Amino acid sequence: MSRVALVTGGSRGIGAAISQALKNKGYTVAANYAGNDEAAAKFTSETGIKTYKWNVGDYEASKAGIAKVEADLGPVEIIVANAGITRDAPFHKMTPEQWHQVIDTNLTGVFNTVHPVWPGMRDRKFGRVVVISSINGQKGQFAQVNYAATKAGDLGIVKSLAQEGARAGITANAVCPGYIATEMVMAVPEKVRESIIAGIPAGRLGEPEEIARCVAFLVSDDAGFINGSTISANGAQFFV
Ligand code: CAA
Repeated sequence: MSRVALVTGGSRGIGAAISQALKNKGYTVAANYAGNDEAAAKFTSETGIKTYKWNVGDYEASKAGIAKVEADLGPVEIIVANAGITRDAPFHKMTPEQWHQVIDTNLTGVFNTVHPVWPGMRDRKFGRVVVISSINGQKGQFAQVNYAATKAGDLGIVKSLAQEGARAGITANAVCPGYIATEMVMAVPEKVRESIIAGIPAGRLGEPEEIARCVAFLVSDDAGFINGSTISANGAQFFV
């Protein structure tokens, strides 16, 4: 029986590439999504990967969604907490609503995704947790006080989970993508995006598959001693 992997935000952008890469490696993949039914249906018809709709910011919905995945496919042994949103604004213009939307999805969403599967991972003495953080959690970013706070928070989450899970055969790691060619980055005003690309020594945006390959390695049996770490994949834009 192949291991079951759940990827949140797994039907679009980086998440879709992760879902596909894990399927290619032989895992049974479930892709969660929040709202875009059309994209999810297209993704399933193109890849054969089942999609499950719930809002990761809602604990009860996450619990119920994960229970459905487990009833359909079996216990979730691999979690990729990828779902994330931006609500960019300079701090003096950022509203409490923009703050809370991003915290709920990007940070509380990680808690809501991992917490329901954690006891099963402990019982079975195996688990893989990968959280998709961001270069902007490492360096901060103009107009992203909310987003950077969540992505820095992800690093605290995996370092803590790593210590708690290590003896139970569970690893928790983060990947920090730089600027990747997804809808999220394409939504940045063109002029700003051009200046961002100019600041990437690689001279280009990353591809979603370049992040997916990091995840595929971290969830593999080969990566069992890598725990609490962060892989940066940013084309040399920033070093920790
Ligand atoms: N550094 C310094 N100054 C900046 C800046 C930056 N990165 N970006 C914008 N500014 C400046 C502008 O030049 C402008 O200055 P002036 O007032 O002197 O002209 C000012 O800040 C912007 O003021 P506005 O009132 O025009 O701002 P706005 O309310 O219209 O907001 C914005 C514009 C939302 C900040 C927009 O510029 C933007 O989206 N910037 C990109 C932010 C960004 O990089 N987000 C990352 C998204 S990708 C992602 O998050 C994925 C990942 O993990 C990497």
